[in-house]
Amino acid sequence: MNSSLANSISSLNSVAMGDKKADLILKNCNLLSVYTREIIPKTQVAIVDDRIAYVGPDASHAIGSKTKIIDVKNKFVSPGFADPHLHIDQFVLPSEFAKQALLCGVTSLFSDPIDVVSVGGSRGFQEFLRLGEDLPIRIFQVVPGGLPVDAKFSNSKTMSLSQEKSAIKHPHVLGLGEVFSWTKVTLREPKTMKSLSTMLECDCIINGHTAGASDKKLNAYVSSGVLSCHEPINFDQVLERLRLGMWIMIREGSIRRDLKEIIPRVLSHGTYLNRLMFCSDGLDPLDLSKFGHIDHCIRESIKLGLEPIDAISMASKNNFDYYNMSKDLGGIAPGKLADILIFKDLKSFRPTQVFVGGKLIISDGKFVTPIKKKTIPSWIKNTVKLNKFSKKSFEIKSKKNQVTANTISMLTEIITKIGSVELQAKDGLVSASLDSDVWKVAAFDRTHGTKRHSIGFLENFGAEIGAFASTWSFHENDMIVIGSNDSDMATAANHIIKNQGGLVVVKSGKILSSLPLQFAGIVSTDSFEKVSSNFEKINNSIVDSGCKFPRPHLIPLFLPFLALPSVRILSSGIVDVKKRQYIEPIY
Ligand SMILES: [Fe+2]
Repeated sequence: MNSSLANSISSLNSVAMGDKKADLILKNCNLLSVYTREIIPKTQVAIVDDRIAYVGPDASHAIGSKTKIIDVKNKFVSPGFADPHLHIDQFVLPSEFAKQALLCGVTSLFSDPIDVVSVGGSRGFQEFLRLGEDLPIRIFQVVPGGLPVDAKFSNSKTMSLSQEKSAIKHPHVLGLGEVFSWTKVTLREPKTMKSLSTMLECDCIINGHTAGASDKKLNAYVSSGVLSCHEPINFDQVLERLRLGMWIMIREGSIRRDLKEIIPRVLSHGTYLNRLMFCSDGLDPLDLSKFGHIDHCIRESIKLGLEPIDAISMASKNNFDYYNMSKDLGGIAPGKLADILIFKDLKSFRPTQVFVGGKLIISDGKFVTPIKKKTIPSWIKNTVKLNKFSKKSFEIKSKKNQVTANTISMLTEIITKIGSVELQAKDGLVSASLDSDVWKVAAFDRTHGTKRHSIGFLENFGAEIGAFASTWSFHENDMIVIGSNDSDMATAANHIIKNQGGLVVVKSGKILSSLPLQFAGIVSTDSFEKVSSNFEKINNSIVDSGCKFPRPHLIPLFLPFLALPSVRILSSGIVDVKKRQYIEPIY
């Protein structure tokens, strides 16, 4: 949807000189200049096609009979915001997410569609790329840089080197996404090193993920061409990375919220702000509705002491500087694409008007440009390759009367430790025990059709339900089923097959709540509002039944995530992450 600057210079130059007339002029702008850190009153901005041709005190020479003039009446005018790292292959389709992001003033999204690749490989990536095109928002993609998380255990699909090479030829594919198993870099794993050098040869960016790395390991990582990180959770980690020439995306999203910890220390230290950005790393529908998106980061940062103009620069210019796109985007200046926001004041940061490429998308907080729905091919809506379950599918057999189980003990929704519990066997079968808060947990390969699965035990979940199942899990996307009885586990799994993906909660044979995720088993094809309501019901039905954690949807999401300690379950088995070995469920 954007022109190239190279093809536009003659037209832009002519409008700036008044030899050609503008399509649109905004007058009486209180312009937030991210280039000079000032607010410039009474500014006029002339636009032709999708780019800005003139910024200055008087654009009257560019007015023609067809020029539209909008009097902004001294409102504040800023460049569109960007989210430099998020996973938009979550919850809703890009078209639905785009609507919410645009209402928050976000006109550019830098997406790392890691889970759609984990399910659909290169074909999934291409499909998601297509879904992100021709929308009234800019969606840039990176090739996922962390798959498989650990080839010894992982089941996920990934992209080959030649598929990566071909993907980055697309103008909206910018490079490699978060390379989150940083040991693959410090151990110089051959495919990872080849991917990194290919990206560098092609002038592509490489996004990082350096949680836990410091000193020589961090140096090795940075010297391999990885120049950004969104993982710092405190200022010391920010500073160490900035000193090594990295760019930092401060995360404020559904996984973590780090602004409160980082911004005050950035200000008291007097650190340069030019390599700092805000990112969400993914937002669930309730957080998006409740807090907002990058607009929320601006509001919060200002509350923490940041100057509004600096917050705007971190939300706009710095992102495009990092992605080597500063000639096209990031500020309101001649030659730039006309992604422009208009605000009543410098408090709410909810734009009254949003222009993308000079086109008015939102006016008075409402969409004036409809977003078309795209058809979705059937193959990506049929990724749950599983046969009908019965309660026998979840049996754990033993010849002993009493067994010891290695359990996945939940400390939070995300953090686990290896536990141990004595269980009685009855008629050769070992069951879960709701009274002792010991649950069965199972992981099934649902992508490759292999019937590969593992079943073990989980402790400290607490909800009085029969079963909770999900097909969305970082970044294996096995079907995870947690249950207090085998019969409800089978009902939950069969409901998931019927919906071809999603989350479901079952009690005594009845469906308490269901969130269908029909697209690759990870994204819903329903509206944002419907998904938001279903998502809320899933968590409420578990929390209201006594679950010990406030956001139980995260449990199946993180149970197979091998990048975190200490014990994880995948369809290939139960894994002691630190020792990098399988453990038996019972002995
Ligand atoms: Fe991420």
